[in-house]
Amino acid sequence: MIIAVDGPTASGKGTISKKLAAHFGLPHLDTGLLYRAVGRQTLLNGGDPDRSADALAAVGFPDSLLDEPVLRNEATGSLASRASVHPDVRKALFDRQRDFAQQEGGAVLDGRDIGTVIAPDADVKLFITASVEARAQRRYAEMQERGVSITLSEIEADLHRRDERDTNRKDAPLIAAPDAYIIDTSELGIEEAFNAALAAIAEATASG
Ligand code: DC
Repeated sequence: MIIAVDGPTASGKGTISKKLAAHFGLPHLDTGLLYRAVGRQTLLNGGDPDRSADALAAVGFPDSLLDEPVLRNEATGSLASRASVHPDVRKALFDRQRDFAQQEGGAVLDGRDIGTVIAPDADVKLFITASVEARAQRRYAEMQERGVSITLSEIEADLHRRDERDTNRKDAPLIAAPDAYIIDTSELGIEEAFNAALAAIAEATASG
């Protein structure tokens, strides 16, 4: 079974995806990490993520970069959002994601374009969303826990900028696939959101 999970930053898609992978015993790929690694590597190379050639040159990042905590920072998220605009970069990361989706037994992938581009044939597509306010609160709590100094309004402004960029880019914009189940987690706790995802999967797989 392939489960495609898309949605904006801090919507809860990562947490839900991890729980779904554990529940169904499936491997999980957080595709945002790949773009974050490209953004970070572009910076390490002294390049500019707004320049397609610079971002493309960073696609060969070492896999060890994926484990670095700096990848989780807001600043790296912004670099990733900028680097992910370029079609060449998206093309260069396509096979890795597609191969992961098509491995025997299935997989859970989360990102922005999983249900639309990477695995349009997924058995179940979920689109996880939430209000900017709810997402900013969550991200703020996460940053405080990690001791990162940032204000709530800085986070809100950053989320607005990234939503805008991810939604309006030409290639593979953030959009729900027509056959995706939309789950708004603004008012939901983790367990409630997870149960809503399980219910959607049960419905999708029952209807075949
Ligand atoms: O999910 P995230 O915040 O880790 O993603 C970081 C950025 O990477 C996001 O702003 C846009 C980009 N991204 C993408 O374009 N396509 C994906 N499948 C995943 C992430």
